[in-house]
Amino acid sequence: MVLGLLLTGTLYAALSPAQAELRTQTDTELIKDGRELFLLGCSFCHGQNGEGVLTASGEQQLGPSLVGVGAAAVDFYVGTGRMPLQQPGQQSPRKAEAYTQDEIDALAAYVASLGPGPAVPNSSDYSTEGMSEEDKQLAQLRGGQFFLTNCTACHNFDGSGGAMPWGKKAYTLKGVDERHIYQAMLVGPGEMPVFSNDVITPEDKRDIIAYLKSLEESPNYGGFSLGGLGPVSEGMFAWIVGIGACVGFAVWIAAHTTRSSKSKGQVEA
Ligand code: HEC
Ligand code: HEC
Repeated sequence: MVLGLLLTGTLYAALSPAQAELRTQTDTELIKDGRELFLLGCSFCHGQNGEGVLTASGEQQLGPSLVGVGAAAVDFYVGTGRMPLQQPGQQSPRKAEAYTQDEIDALAAYVASLGPGPAVPNSSDYSTEGMSEEDKQLAQLRGGQFFLTNCTACHNFDGSGGAMPWGKKAYTLKGVDERHIYQAMLVGPGEMPVFSNDVITPEDKRDIIAYLKSLEESPNYGGFSLGGLGPVSEGMFAWIVGIGACVGFAVWIAAHTTRSSKSKGQVEA
């Protein structure tokens, strides 16, 4: 037994530091690769060391500092094709991503090395995979409540998106990756506020995502969807078309009865 203990002890001592070394080795390598990609594709706007670049006039930022934005911001911005920005404009739009996931991981590792920031979430953070059917439904219900209070003001009650002041847009949330929804809340792109884990806990974030995904799956039970414009406009539709028809009919009846009584009067006179 002593021999066995000794053996495992020595083996452990011999192997585990080597493993740790291997980890840091690959980490530094990933960061190095990321830095190379960064210098090529991003440093023009974000600076040689991610410190940000001012335009010649010194007022506007060509690209903001990336110190402390974290791996999650890179995974989101590059993963949704927002970065690299081709043309500084009003809003950085979604487009086809320019980098592979491996390259994005390297870029994210490099930016994360500049300063502490939110990490890329694990799939267990945003997925309801493996939950029982009841738990999933509960998560969707809870998520719906959180979505209604926090997100509908800009993204519409069914997540179909909406207009923002100054010609900007809050995009539709249909078809957005679970991971990117989670990260959008962590990062707060553009005009969207940051929903840190203190404001909306990771569990609540997961529930919001479950709700949004359930919207994508559920068919439209109400028949004609009116574009999912929301209770106010759908209510308006009922008022104008429904009650409008009733009022029109009433007017029609009234017009006919008055005319007949008038003509009766004329005959008597
Ligand atoms: C043409 C200039 C330009 C290039 C090139 C560019 N960026 Fe950006 N980047 C910007 C601007 C401007 C913003 C701020 C716009 C916004 O928030 O929508 C920004 C924002 C970001 C953010 C979000 C920062 C935050 O505060 O959350 C990240 C992360 C980012 N860029 C990463 C990158 C990476 C990685 C690359 C290279 C693959 C890159 N950018 C290339 C101009 C650029
Ligand atoms: C104040 C308005 C506002 C609120 C509130 C808001 N968002 Fe946003 N959201 C935006 C805007 C604007 C954008 C587009 C950002 C950009 O310029 O890239 C956006 C983008 C997103 C995206 C990225 C979509 C894409 O196509 O890549 C996701 C996901 C998202 N929001 C989810 C949420 C969730 C979930 C909530 C609630 C917890 C929320 N938002 C609350 C305004 C808002």
